[in-house]
This record gives sequence, C-alpha cells and structure tokens, in this order.
Amino acid sequence: MSERDGALSEAGPRWQPVAGEADLAPGGVMVVGAEGRSFALGRTAEGQWGAIDNVCTHDGGTLGEGELDDRCVECPRHGARFDLFSGQVKALPAVYPVNAYPVRVRDGIVEIDLGVGTRELEIGG
Ligand code: FES
Repeated sequence: MSERDGALSEAGPRWQPVAGEADLAPGGVMVVGAEGRSFALGRTAEGQWGAIDNVCTHDGGTLGEGELDDRCVECPRHGARFDLFSGQVKALPAVYPVNAYPVRVRDGIVEIDLGVGTRELEIGG
C-alpha cells in the first residue's frame, strides 16, 4: 500500500486482540470481531496466521465459516477462494478482492492490525 493511492488511509498500527492462540488449530479458519467489524482469521497448517474481511465479494458469504485450503479461504456458499495474506481472489465466482490484515501473536493472544489502509468492498461480478 502506498501514499500515492488516495483511496487508502493509514495512521499507524492499531493492534486489536481477537482470539486466544489455542482457539484455532492449524489448518483452520474462524470468525472473529474487533471494533464492530468482522474478520475471517486463519492459521495455516504451517502455523502462519492471517486475516481478511469476513465478507465474500461474490454475494456476501461468511468467509470465516468456510474452510482453509493451504493459504486460501474458501467461501462456504459457492466456493470462491481468497488468499489469506493478500485478500486477492484465487478462484471464481468472486472477482473483487477483500482486505487483508497483519496478524501477530503475543503471549498467547492473537492480534489483528486494524490500522492498515483498506478499500471499500465491491460486491458482485
Ligand atoms: S457468496 Fe461466496 S462464492 Fe458466492
């Protein structure tokens, strides 16, 4: 993300606790919330954490209720896939990306950085 893109706003990191490390086994994805927003939090089989918006841009499916396959979150409704670390679409029928958020684990608490620049989601396609 760069300052040249006027659609983005960045004001520094804003880490928010969303789960305990033990709440999600490797290879899984779950719904978490912070600041009134909802996220799909994933943990790869190798133990890497990532988070994306909890809304599928195809037709509003709940991504955190889907499945994690390698590093992609699969929407439970029609199977669109989103990269857990970039939010990019990896499989149709979704065509628009979601936002991705940095994740860290401190003292057993999983935190998401909500200070990153985000884009308003486009739904449809
Ligand atoms: S709502 Fe997610 S693939 Fe259709």
